[in-house]
Amino acid sequence: MTLQDSFGRRFRYLRLSVTDVCNFRCNYCLPDGYQCTTEEQPLSVNEIQQLAQAFARAGTRKIRITGGEPSVRADLPEIIRTLRAVPGIEEVALTTNGYRLGERVHEWKAAGLDRFNLSIDSLDPRQFHAITGHNRLQELLDGLDQARAAGFNDIRINTVLLRQFNASELDAFLEWIRETPLTLRFIELMRTGDNAAFFNDNHVSGESIQTRLLDSGWQPLLRSASAGPAREFSHPDYAGRIGLIMPYSKDFCASCNRLRVSATGKLHLCLFGEQGHDLRDLLKAEHSDALDQRLLDLMPLKKETHFLEQEETGATTHFAMLGG
Ligand code: 5AD
Ligand code: SF4
Repeated sequence: MTLQDSFGRRFRYLRLSVTDVCNFRCNYCLPDGYQCTTEEQPLSVNEIQQLAQAFARAGTRKIRITGGEPSVRADLPEIIRTLRAVPGIEEVALTTNGYRLGERVHEWKAAGLDRFNLSIDSLDPRQFHAITGHNRLQELLDGLDQARAAGFNDIRINTVLLRQFNASELDAFLEWIRETPLTLRFIELMRTGDNAAFFNDNHVSGESIQTRLLDSGWQPLLRSASAGPAREFSHPDYAGRIGLIMPYSKDFCASCNRLRVSATGKLHLCLFGEQGHDLRDLLKAEHSDALDQRLLDLMPLKKETHFLEQEETGATTHFAMLGG
């Protein structure tokens, strides 16, 4: 079986936040750094296991671990190992800011991590510092080398384009993947509850990036039916690929293939949805049937699209809540 909503979209992909905490201060996300606003502890490894088993029974095949920054949890390798051992789960991925990447990739690999996405918002050390609050660009680039040495080869880089910061670096980013087989994923800045003024100053339309790519010979790749909302491009002269995430574009939501669970066990049907639906009370082995039923019951509540165009950001004040 597969979880499915009223619009025929199927969900075999779960994004699971394991903590709200982040040690970076990205200016579009947590400009003042992480502020603790809840007493509630994140899900334990045991609860994560119950959750993943239920999703797997309902047809989930891929789980991405997100945050905040997942690696602030000392038990991240155990989480990876636990998810990887769930029958039915074929792929475990991670999104990370790369803090101490080089030291950590080996244990992630040993725990069974299949792939990871790394956020790099600038290739200029000073600009990187200005955006993330950390002078760690070189550490991340060295970490990437370590990751390749550890056997990760299909690495994706996430970059949020910001008019006043890194938008002028587009060519430098492209140059980087001329010889390096990475996927660069440009993410259009999204408005959240916290970043309205910043959004107005820094939003760069994904369409404008797409036009630039098409004009310089990048070709859209055919998308499989199960591909998510990213548009992908390749170029005969480049080893790497480009992905564009354009949440404001028409049809973005039609290809939605994912569900999200917050660090405290709330199911979010949309990144820009609602308060989230609590699952935590059922994350015990003896409640597994009730949990299966609740997942099914929640599916019809998923709406057809977000309302970002109307400047509605729902309950999402920043993405460290839900991992993007
Ligand atoms: N708009 C777009 N992307 C965002 N991210 C965080 N906040 C935003 C936002 N407002 C992205 C980060 C990271 C991922 C976890 O979410 O760049 O790649
Ligand atoms: Fe930056 Fe991600 Fe941390 Fe937000 S959660 S501050 S985007 S590293």
